[in-house]
Amino acid sequence: MDMIKRPRRLRSGEALRKMVRETRVSPSALIYPAFVVEGEGRREEIPSMPGQYHYSVDKLLYKAEEMLSAGVDKMMLFGVPGHKDACGSGAWAEDGVVQRAMRALKERFPELYLVGDVCMCEYTSHGHCGILAGHEVDNDKTLDYLCRIALSQVEAGADMVAPSDMMDGRVGAIRSALDRAGRSNTPIMSYAAKYASAFYGPFRDAAGSAPAFGDRKSYQMDWHNSREAVKEALADVEEGADIVMVKPAMAYGDIIARVKAATNVPVAAYSVSGEYAMVKTCGRLGLGDETALMCEIAAGAFRAGADIYLTYFARELAEAMARGLIG
Ligand code: PBG
Repeated sequence: MDMIKRPRRLRSGEALRKMVRETRVSPSALIYPAFVVEGEGRREEIPSMPGQYHYSVDKLLYKAEEMLSAGVDKMMLFGVPGHKDACGSGAWAEDGVVQRAMRALKERFPELYLVGDVCMCEYTSHGHCGILAGHEVDNDKTLDYLCRIALSQVEAGADMVAPSDMMDGRVGAIRSALDRAGRSNTPIMSYAAKYASAFYGPFRDAAGSAPAFGDRKSYQMDWHNSREAVKEALADVEEGADIVMVKPAMAYGDIIARVKAATNVPVAAYSVSGEYAMVKTCGRLGLGDETALMCEIAAGAFRAGADIYLTYFARELAEAMARGLIG
């Protein structure tokens, strides 16, 4: 047969396949999101996210040690406070659960890079991501609170803040609040294109943050849209975002690619709780190999253009990388 181009030639053995691989990954790109609760001695499995736990601050230290020894040196913290109120005061309290966790982690593991998720929904009694005016979230009023949260996290040891609330103008507001406080070197990773996604279901269980009424569609994005994601990302970069994030990751490869092409900052992708739970469920039901599914889904995000990947599978993924199962 007279055939010049034979794509199979480059697939003929593992060494060759690895050499011509287009996507390479490293544990340095991974951020592990963890849930911190009040109290002591607590390590309680989250029913909707098998293999993920609520940690009290003392137990979180052990988890951090485990992550560091697996080669994952970045964590993002979500707080599940004991007390919630209308203005989410637990989110910026000096002795708030995240602030205490950050202080303890930094003291014990100075090499651990800490990202603070800046949002209100885990701390508000109504479960919305901002301050309410009637049944609406008041955008501009919420900005002051987000600035307070960001500052309190940075004061507690956060190396970076990641606003996830989707209020307009929050990146600019947080940037100037940080600058005024002498924190001009603290980067902001904005959840720039955060969709109103059903994939957050398990997280809302884990964080107790489901909205008490209505939904988040007046602030999170409509998942039919992609040009709007570019608009959001460009606006955030304009306001001072150092990194922009796309969330969720798995059904949003096109968005990752578009945002990557439209901006010149690093792009993060957040593989959310529903993606994690789906892989776990497939594994448990014997429908697929959990590790292989995890690797393929992660490679999809990196292939689409993600530079940074937030995942509850961070440790397992780092181990898979070390074993050559991915990248
Ligand atoms: C807080 C926040 C959410 C997630 C991250 N930050 C939930 C939401 O917006 O409802 C989702 C994370 C996940 O599902 O893993 N606003």
